[in-house]
Amino acid sequence: MTKIIWMTDPHYQSAGDIAGLNPRVRLATAIDHMNTHHGDAALAVISGDLVGDDIGNDYAGLSTYLARSNVSIHALVGNNDDRAGFRAHLPLPEDAMPDFVQYVLTVAGARLICLDTHKPGSHAGEFCATRQDWLKQMLLQQPDLPTYIFMHHPPMALGLPKQDEIRLENGDAFLDLISGYPNVRHLFIGHVHRPTCGTIRGIPFVTLGALSFQAPAPQPDWDWQSFKAAEEPPHYAVLSIQNGDITVQFTQYCTYAHGMEAAPQA
Ligand SMILES: [Fe+2]
Repeated sequence: MTKIIWMTDPHYQSAGDIAGLNPRVRLATAIDHMNTHHGDAALAVISGDLVGDDIGNDYAGLSTYLARSNVSIHALVGNNDDRAGFRAHLPLPEDAMPDFVQYVLTVAGARLICLDTHKPGSHAGEFCATRQDWLKQMLLQQPDLPTYIFMHHPPMALGLPKQDEIRLENGDAFLDLISGYPNVRHLFIGHVHRPTCGTIRGIPFVTLGALSFQAPAPQPDWDWQSFKAAEEPPHYAVLSIQNGDITVQFTQYCTYAHGMEAAPQA
């Protein structure tokens, strides 16, 4: 059995709060929880929105928090990220794509393909022809090995009206591409700060609550101007891969109130 830890959307910032909580406390607690209970994981993936405002400084600060992990952490970029800041402070595999934060991780019995859906200056995402060509090449390399794709932006609407407005812009092209490769077994998606799961064109997908604040359910209706985070605790996911199958365990690592008290600045 191969264990993978999946976290998303820590929205790290070196000072201050976001949506009424201290993202440094939430991130540190998640990593400590993983070290205590899942130190045997093969690796961990964080599927984007690594930082918040003040991006230049925040990647340096973020890297010091990630360094407390006993499990090797691999990160993706989301809409709030910056490729140059990421590259200056966070590691990437040697064979990662040169111009985008895209790379492949190999574990026992599976490949994990980490995609870059960042579109500079936009909260929506994009997946351009260059990134698509790279993905095609990777999917052709080991057609018999179960392949799991990690990405920040959903390539389809999820029934979350506000998040759906800022999904992957050319999601149909992405879905057309992966539909031709039966080795794609599951999509793991960040961005929406809320757990959902289902299938798209027959491929299972799952989204995950954020390490930071949680988005409300679509009803009662809400808008960004009056946004108030859902009063739900954060979680990460434990993925278990065995004999070509995978299970996803959602794991609450602290209470809703944790990190919402007046916590000291980092
Ligand atoms: Fe986010």
